[in-house]
Amino acid sequence: MNEPKLLVFDSGLGGLTVLAALHRVLPGASYLYIADDAAFPYGDLADGDLIERCRAIMTKAVPAYRPDAAIIACNTASTLALPVLRSRFHLPFIGTVPAIKPAAEVTESGVVSVLATPGTVKRDYTRDLIQTYAGHIHVRLVGSAKLAGLAEKHIGGGQVDDAAISTEITPAFAEKDGKRTDTIVLGCTHFPLLRDRLETLAPWPVTWVDPAPAIARRVVTVLDGFAGPSIGPGQQPVKSGPKLTFWFTSGRDVDPSILATLTALRIRHLLA
Ligand code: DGL
Repeated sequence: MNEPKLLVFDSGLGGLTVLAALHRVLPGASYLYIADDAAFPYGDLADGDLIERCRAIMTKAVPAYRPDAAIIACNTASTLALPVLRSRFHLPFIGTVPAIKPAAEVTESGVVSVLATPGTVKRDYTRDLIQTYAGHIHVRLVGSAKLAGLAEKHIGGGQVDDAAISTEITPAFAEKDGKRTDTIVLGCTHFPLLRDRLETLAPWPVTWVDPAPAIARRVVTVLDGFAGPSIGPGQQPVKSGPKLTFWFTSGRDVDPSILATLTALRIRHLLA
């Protein structure tokens, strides 16, 4: 399927890091990007409220947009709400979960941190991933309540102090039995938006693992095995309008800071 319609969902703009990776492997795709910014941040939302918001938003968006697949570009939502969404809607849901398996494969020191929201850190799903793929190494779970908000502020052109970022990331740099953390999982889709700042402020160099490219490859695999709406003989695919549409639950419009983010992620042209 070369020109699929994809729904990409996050609490804010972090999911655009996943959308950018999707665009690299599926350049013909069209997107509805939903940001539940009225409820941002998801990181400390109660489990029941988070599931209910995801369910309610998909109930409106899926019949209206009729996507070929939905990408939950949010670790905090994916590690909790995927089973409910998959049972409720008849389309493939691809989630974003902390990249613990790849991190366990690349670490040399055997000391890895997962930097994520407090919600993601406390999930059974995350702990199961560690047990399944990283039982042989030391994994430190670091919940940051503020980093996603700092990322939103940073890409919105706001002033974000180095000290504020350092406070959030320093607990992810640890020593265990004389070995230092050498790999940090970016367990929230907002964090890659701060990638340059993270690299500059890291107390020592580490490998930052961003799952977005792997998620994009997974979407390609899922779409390959999924028969979308077919086009009859003589019919042309309907290709009008922009390839990226936004729905902000707060009612926010696409403003200059969003345009700047799209430009930085090289997906600005999708709005044209
Ligand atoms: N981008 C979301 C994630 O991947 C969370 C940000 C938030 O706390 O809302 O977990």
